[in-house]
Amino acid sequence: MSVDSQKLSTLMHENRTFPPSDEFRAQANFNDERIYEQAAQDPEAYWSEQALHLSWFKPFENVLKWTPPHAKWFLGGKLNAAYNCVDRHAFGPRKNKAALIWEGEPGDTRVLTYDMLRREVDKAAHALKRLGVQKGDRVSIYLPMIPELPIAMLAAAKIGAIHSVVFAGFSSQSLQQRLEDAKSKVLITADGGWRRGGITPLKANADEALVQTPVEKVVVVQRVGEVAGITMQENRDVYWHELLAESPTTPFEPEPMDSEDVLYLLYTSGTTGKPKGIVHSTGGYLTGANTSMRSVFDIKDSDVWFCTADIGWVTGHTYLVYGPLSAGTTVVMYEGGPDYPTRDRYWQIIEKYGVTVLYTAPTLIRTFMKWGESHPAAHDLSTLRLLGTVGEPINPEAWMWFHQHVGRGTCPIVDTWWQTETGCAMIAPLPGIVPTKPGSATRAVPGIDIDVVDENGESVGFENGGYLVIKKPWPSMLRTVWQDDARYRDTYFGKFEGVYLPGDGAHVDADGYVWILGRIDDVINVSGHRIGTAEVESALVAHPAVAEAAVIGRAHDVKGQAITAFVTVRDGITTDEQLVADLKRTVVEQIGAMARPEEIIFAAELPKTRSAKIMRRLLRDIAEGRVLGDTTTLADPSVVDTLKAQYKDAE
Ligand code: WT7
Repeated sequence: MSVDSQKLSTLMHENRTFPPSDEFRAQANFNDERIYEQAAQDPEAYWSEQALHLSWFKPFENVLKWTPPHAKWFLGGKLNAAYNCVDRHAFGPRKNKAALIWEGEPGDTRVLTYDMLRREVDKAAHALKRLGVQKGDRVSIYLPMIPELPIAMLAAAKIGAIHSVVFAGFSSQSLQQRLEDAKSKVLITADGGWRRGGITPLKANADEALVQTPVEKVVVVQRVGEVAGITMQENRDVYWHELLAESPTTPFEPEPMDSEDVLYLLYTSGTTGKPKGIVHSTGGYLTGANTSMRSVFDIKDSDVWFCTADIGWVTGHTYLVYGPLSAGTTVVMYEGGPDYPTRDRYWQIIEKYGVTVLYTAPTLIRTFMKWGESHPAAHDLSTLRLLGTVGEPINPEAWMWFHQHVGRGTCPIVDTWWQTETGCAMIAPLPGIVPTKPGSATRAVPGIDIDVVDENGESVGFENGGYLVIKKPWPSMLRTVWQDDARYRDTYFGKFEGVYLPGDGAHVDADGYVWILGRIDDVINVSGHRIGTAEVESALVAHPAVAEAAVIGRAHDVKGQAITAFVTVRDGITTDEQLVADLKRTVVEQIGAMARPEEIIFAAELPKTRSAKIMRRLLRDIAEGRVLGDTTTLADPSVVDTLKAQYKDAE
């Protein structure tokens, strides 16, 4: 495996520690460190106790059935995720508590109490049911960050339908691919979405995707209005507000779901060109999401929770919807860009709503650092008591900046390592117990058993790099890859039997702290988003000028990694600026703006091994300007010198 040695040595010299204050520890939900040992001794007892924080229509009889690589949790139990996130609060003492405080990019706001949210979800559930949606059907959702997005998800969950949210930044082709794989009956979209003052043409994108992959009904939320200039297709398209207006005001009976019934699909990139539909269960997933709110995020009824992720990614699923709402928390949700109209928008939001816990991403923190500390300094952030990060390793400078300029030197920071597949935070400090170290996600949360191992699956011990693994099943783990169980087995359990392989490199320091070293496969982490190199490559080779393409991630000071594409063109093609622009556009059209290559390098030839495998490691070395390592396996060593020269020219 390749370990970024530069990153490793920077991190290994990081030995500042930040223990929780006595004050924080005293008030924390989890402040007795014996919980780690207890949970390790009997993880099933720990998880079954956590599962009882949910409301079950019928109690579970069996905590875990583990037939590797398939786990079943809380068998015999029946519950409904939407009931747990909405009804049980709306019909209880949280009835008039704010569930959702939403702020649109143009400055419009909407606040929904748990009771109001319940009414909206029920109207939407009645409406979907009228459209023919039944338990087990797939409902795809392609919406911007507006209240209708969580409402649509919860309405699907209430019926027992499986939602598949497609991030609104994805192109029509990406949407089409996901609609086709999920075989969705209904698509819920919007006329458009606001983004930095501009409009994302969601309905137009959807129309394009639907040409190839039709669905029975398309529900359209009006967000931007007339300016979107959309067309509605008769008998297929219906407006959300018209549909909901016809719904009865009576409560919608939640469908009692088996614990193992599928709650949702969420597509994520892997090493092939085809995204994987990650399958999450109802009981186990919700248990993981809910537990981490109480443990890692120390959530209390008085908290105001702001997660800056988009619901189109797993962070938004777990930490804008299922985690906080199942815990009865007040969630702040913001539609737009952090610099719209000014660079202090987040700090404004925190001050305005009195946010107490902020969960964001290292790439954003680095962006804020660039913009300067005057922006957070201009606002009263004194309500903040806990900060969190997710998506990629946080570099210690960014950690310190976050600590000083946002956390006033007093808020604990929880760096949370997890994945779409794990469902919730897996490696993260419990902030009332674990002293933090800038750059380390610290240790596995209670009930999670991890290790770092070598090629043979043997523990590498302290201070050595290796494969991060999760040795025992956990409630919120993915259940399979949608319609491709073989891919599930191969990808996650193919290397070590019965042991989950996340695909990250890591090492453990002498204090037992885990340091994540990044992906060990052909997956790039751009601004905390996972992008498969194969997806970008196939987008590029679809262009008529391209003969071959190799895509790598190179270090980038704000995005973490940026995409560099090495391209060889067909005979007779002129490699000019126009072509560069064309190729970048083709990637954006096929995948989405987040996959736009930072640079395109035209190469006469790509470096290959004698068995014709492209040597990505070499390409990365070239892109990052490093001295080249071993090139003895190269079929034609001169390729590298030519490439190096070309890369310099391109800069
Ligand atoms: C990959 C998962 C889960 C939320 C966002 C991304 C990287 C995530 C951390 C962290 C170091 C991290 C890993 C992981 N990653 N959080 N705190 N420290 N690396 O979800 O798209 O499924 O990507 O993101 O490489 O495997 P995702």
